[in-house]
Amino acid sequence: MAKVFRSSAVDPESGASKSEPCVMVIFGASGDVTKRLVVPALYNLRCDGLLSDNFAVLGAGRTEMDDAEFRARIGGEKDGLRAFHTRKEFDEAAAADLLNRMYFQTADIKVEDFRKLKNRVRELDARHGAGGNVLFYFAMAPRFFGPLCDTLYEAGFQEGAGWKRFIIEKPFGTDLASARALNREILAHWREDQIYRIDHYLGKETVQNLLAFRFSNGMFEPLWNRDHIDNIQFNVCETVDVQGRGGYYDASGVLRDMMQNHMFQMLAYLCMEPPSSFQSEPIRNEKAKLLDSVRVYSSDEVPANSVRGQYGPSADKPGYRQEKDVDPKSSTETFAALRLFIDNWRWQGVPIYLRSGKALWKRGTEIVVEFKKAPEAIFRGTSVEELEPNRLVFHIQPFQGIELLFQAKTPGPSLQLQEVDMRFSYGDAFRASRYTGYEVMIYSATRGDATLFSRGDLVDAAWRIAQPILDYWQATPAGDHFPNYMRNTWGPPEASHFIERDGRSWFEVVTPEVLEKLPMFAGADPLLLNSVIMALRPTTADAGETIIKEGDMGNEMYLILRGQVDVRDRAGKVVRTLKDGDFFGEVSLLMSTPRTATVVAKTQCDLFQLERSDFCRILRDHRQFAETMTKVAKERYDLTVSSAELTAG
Ligand code: BG6
Repeated sequence: MAKVFRSSAVDPESGASKSEPCVMVIFGASGDVTKRLVVPALYNLRCDGLLSDNFAVLGAGRTEMDDAEFRARIGGEKDGLRAFHTRKEFDEAAAADLLNRMYFQTADIKVEDFRKLKNRVRELDARHGAGGNVLFYFAMAPRFFGPLCDTLYEAGFQEGAGWKRFIIEKPFGTDLASARALNREILAHWREDQIYRIDHYLGKETVQNLLAFRFSNGMFEPLWNRDHIDNIQFNVCETVDVQGRGGYYDASGVLRDMMQNHMFQMLAYLCMEPPSSFQSEPIRNEKAKLLDSVRVYSSDEVPANSVRGQYGPSADKPGYRQEKDVDPKSSTETFAALRLFIDNWRWQGVPIYLRSGKALWKRGTEIVVEFKKAPEAIFRGTSVEELEPNRLVFHIQPFQGIELLFQAKTPGPSLQLQEVDMRFSYGDAFRASRYTGYEVMIYSATRGDATLFSRGDLVDAAWRIAQPILDYWQATPAGDHFPNYMRNTWGPPEASHFIERDGRSWFEVVTPEVLEKLPMFAGADPLLLNSVIMALRPTTADAGETIIKEGDMGNEMYLILRGQVDVRDRAGKVVRTLKDGDFFGEVSLLMSTPRTATVVAKTQCDLFQLERSDFCRILRDHRQFAETMTKVAKERYDLTVSSAELTAG
């Protein structure tokens, strides 16, 4: 894998060459992107010996500042490199070397100022031997991208020896029309092959690995089509809210902020045809073709293929509409779920589900490829009632790995199946990544390799898909429908109903951190957590919904992740209210009796379901779980049952 894939270029052990000589001019040099991502990335390249010796940085901006002040800020302890570097140990020598190559020039976006900037670049070029190469980095608000390109041209930066390249931060436009206008503005003076549009998801190892995985393993590609794959799910779950960026976010929303760019890039990697080679243009051609094949909805198709949501408050934090710089009547979506179709030979009819949101129950980005089920018929007459589909899960972050889920026979005389996994973890297989993700992008840009950057036609195709949905949402304000999910939950219940209408459900990747928050698993041993994670099935209940009914045969127990339920006796009297972290429904499983009470959701609930067979297996295999159950049986129902009895099955 290491040989074919670009990201290995930043691995010092791969014997990669250094970046090309250049002067890197950063517009927005005192901003967040520069100090948190760009400078730590340059520092990592320096530490790994991958930064050319003929390299200099010129920060440009309106602030009155000299080189010494700039260096002090950039290298600082509180708000600079010392605070944001990603390595275990801080390498003073490498940092000093990098900082000594950094300069600052006060400049407004005006031709006179840019002429001075040009003289400064010329001077630094001569001092550092950069050969006339200039890498411009636009880390500024998008409204400046066009004027920057114009003014750089008018100041004559196109003249002279060496290459001129532009790294442009996102967002690239706010809709189809503005993206096209911006493209026109930029390309009025500069060529497409000079433009490097950043999408930081392409800097992630796990995203780059999607292509390497697909095309360097002979095993999966023959199955990668509508004959074998039932559906694909892309999930980007964030726990963070808008983090003080209300002004930006309220004009954006999750479709613009996460889906049109990052998620569509992952979609293109996962579903594109094999490129003719691993060079930049063949890869980008296939990505563009793929996005071009995604069905563009008419406005009346939007409601059936999308769900939007906005978070409401939690006990101690505001809802979206109460966030700073957000319109109190805002219809901006902080959550969205889409169903897309790729109208090409390979994917015709395979639904592609995308889901992303802020202020959700967990942080995690996963891609789940769900294969068609094996025929169940041959299991008739056995205790196997239903088969699970095989799933291939790409864990993008924070856990980085790949997992294949399949069924295995549980040991014992009868035929019983259990879902098990084969799991590859980056942390186990490779030296842990210590990069920001920007190293490989800056490095590639200096070497003229645009693989990890978005091309103009790709951006255009992505906006074409998003535009009708944005238009429909804008034309139908959410009004009282928002907020429709509370902070820290699984998002709006409509999102579950949306996929259930297709006879499918979201595959939720439960993390150990989430389980450990439930008191019954606090401090549990990792083996127990792993067994439980594999067995839990997330589900939701609407307020007023009966979850279990007295007298029914019980086949599962429930854990409450979020919400409240009332336990009612035969007469309908509420005998207990259970809340976050509690569980119920275990007594039928422990005692093999019908349900002894009715449980009704008092509020909207996010629940985990644990089926009888899994419950029994976990009891048998994990003494800790058996002990918890014994204690509860005693406390709640005054049942005396020893954990030895339970573990004996
Ligand atoms: C950015 C968005 O592009 O990506 C943010 O503007 C979002 O709103 C972030 O939180 C997510 O990036 P990552 O790398 O943390 O998944």
